[in-house]
Amino acid sequence: MKQKGRFGDYGGFYVPEVLIPALEELEEAFYRFYEDDEFVSELEDLSRHYAGRPSPLYYAKRFSEHVGCKVYLKREDLLHGGAHKVNNTLGQGLLAKYMGKTKLIAETGAGQHGLATAMIGALFGMETKIFMGVVDIERQSVNVHKMKLCGAEVIDVEGGTGTLKDAINDALRYWTAHVTDTFYLFGSACGPHPYPTIVKHFQICIGIEARQQCLDEIGRLPDMVLACVGGGSNAIGIFNEFIDDKDVKLIGIEAGGRSLSSGRHAATLVAGRVGVLHGAKAYLLQDDEGQVYETESVSAGLDYPAVGPEHCMLKDSGRVEYVAAEDKEVLDAFELLSKTEGILPALESAHALAHLVGLKGKLDPETVVVVNLSGRGDKDVGIVEKYRPVKD
Ligand SMILES: Cc1ncc(COP(=O)(O)O)c(C=O)c1O
Repeated sequence: MKQKGRFGDYGGFYVPEVLIPALEELEEAFYRFYEDDEFVSELEDLSRHYAGRPSPLYYAKRFSEHVGCKVYLKREDLLHGGAHKVNNTLGQGLLAKYMGKTKLIAETGAGQHGLATAMIGALFGMETKIFMGVVDIERQSVNVHKMKLCGAEVIDVEGGTGTLKDAINDALRYWTAHVTDTFYLFGSACGPHPYPTIVKHFQICIGIEARQQCLDEIGRLPDMVLACVGGGSNAIGIFNEFIDDKDVKLIGIEAGGRSLSSGRHAATLVAGRVGVLHGAKAYLLQDDEGQVYETESVSAGLDYPAVGPEHCMLKDSGRVEYVAAEDKEVLDAFELLSKTEGILPALESAHALAHLVGLKGKLDPETVVVVNLSGRGDKDVGIVEKYRPVKD
């Protein structure tokens, strides 16, 4: 188990002993079912008819003109629930069903994973509890309401900074006392083994589709693939299929917050050091004593001080470049995509767009760039309005 859960020196499962049997049961079930014909065909059917896969690859012509290269958007924002998160919740939810579990718990930051879990709880008739920090509950209230409408209980997490890190702490704590009937549906490609492997498996459909769509629709592979990085699931989901295409540049964009120099950000791979959080060894935003930083970002889904172990390995190997986009550039990019294409991106996804806008003038006009549009911005309208009131 230890070897399988490692990405280079990263990953592993640094968890209280009481959770080890639950993680082993999960690993055993994943490897039993993930290639099982019945499981695969049920998941494929739900991905198509419930979630809306395959998602389109869209040529954003007017946005491209502004940036000065050819920009294609992988439209995960069009999936049911409004983000890529449903790929993972359908997969893990089905696994929970095959394992005979009757209850789901999950953590959430932006509320997209919470909503995607609440949807699947309703779909499979499972009792669902979502742990969410109080700061995130306030800034992502639309999703909180949607989760409750789907029948889930939303549990306020008041500790720490009231964000994703604290929600994971409480969900893990709850799980230790309820492992027999409860499935912890983890939301990103991080945390203890086997979650990074499981979440990646259910998200690689993004890259498999995108690569084939590039060949079919453009006639060649892209020059660059961009994705935002919180815990790392949408990014590993799209990057994975391109890893062996050495001419395709892969760029992960983290939350630069107010500014990198002020220290008020969530750019883990760009500015972190190796440590252990939430059961895994990874880059981590921490001080000299190993205390985890209070992160800050306009986007709740990227506001997290750690990152998935595979991204740490990909950073060290140099195969993927990791950079940060600051809040102001992100809000500008949100506005630009909305005004040029009529597509409101999630603030998380707008980080990837912001980096691309920053490359304006530096790219050949024939450069083909694929941006993973991980989610839609409906949930963020209130935040954008607060920072950038719309003029009548
Ligand atoms: C739309 C969207 N994109 C990206 C993320 C970041 O998560 P990950 O890095 O796991 O893709 C989130 C997290 O909530 C999200 O809601």
